[in-house]
Amino acid sequence: MTDRAPAGGAPLFEARGLGKTYGSGPTAVVALHDVSLTLATGEFVVILGPSGSGKSTLLNILGGLDAPSAGYVRFRDHVLTGAGERALTAYRREHVGFVFQFYNLIPSLTAEENVALVTGLAGDSPHRRGGSPRDAGAVRDAGPLPAVDALRLVGLEARAHAFPAELSGGEQQRVAIARAVAKDPDVLLCDEPTGALDCETGKLVLAALRRANRERGTTTVVITHNAGIAAMADRTLRMRGGAIVEDVRNPAPVDPQTLSW
Ligand SMILES: Nc1ncnc2c1ncn2[C@@H]1O[C@H](COP(=O)(O)OP(=O)(O)OP(=O)(O)O)[C@@H](O)[C@H]1O
Ligand SMILES: [Mg+2]
Repeated sequence: MTDRAPAGGAPLFEARGLGKTYGSGPTAVVALHDVSLTLATGEFVVILGPSGSGKSTLLNILGGLDAPSAGYVRFRDHVLTGAGERALTAYRREHVGFVFQFYNLIPSLTAEENVALVTGLAGDSPHRRGGSPRDAGAVRDAGPLPAVDALRLVGLEARAHAFPAELSGGEQQRVAIARAVAKDPDVLLCDEPTGALDCETGKLVLAALRRANRERGTTTVVITHNAGIAAMADRTLRMRGGAIVEDVRNPAPVDPQTLSW
């Protein structure tokens, strides 16, 4: 399908003709076919689509976890396609936060320590902070967040000293979001972040994502099977058979607390 120009914000990602085929010969699986997409800085984007439609494959390519078999993808002025493993590792470390369905917290560390672990790794490299100004128009409050501030953003400052086993699933997922947000990524890529949670808990998690998006200007992409979540997004992409078959802007995103699914 034809790509739409973003409504606001400078383009963060430009993908053109992305394809991904796993394997070869008669058993080859086409996971993505001719996907072109522009994501604007600051957008909150929801990706819907049936199982196997290519959602995770697309997210992983944007996040530099996987490479396409065809086409190209650019993050600002960095062409990710064909970048070596070292360059992709640096890209992920400096620019991308990931949130997955299962929270992957370290059980022997408290919430605060889990978050602080990642801030320490992200650092404040001159490569990242120097020179080019942040994109105009985004409400970015640049720089890594102290772990306690990141936990406050997700409403968990009071549980900073709790261990993962002492937290509910939704609280653990909010710690995982705090961890992803603490390093101040340019983009937060979330693959079914509410997949393991009930609706009420899921809403708290979505509210935390929305807050990071609105208060920090973090471009956010959320894969979900819950079509109801689209109501809080600025934009919804629907995938089928490895292609984007629908791309809809939402002029009036709702508060996540009002969602139901
Ligand atoms: N590593 C792999 N090797 C082979 N095939 C793969 C691999 N990863 C994904 N696929 C295939 O590519 C297609 C797209 O997979 P993808 O994980 O992107 O789907 P998805 O939309 O995220 O689905 P779900 O909602 O179930 O997570 C599927 O047919 C899947 O089986
Ligand atoms: Mg998936």
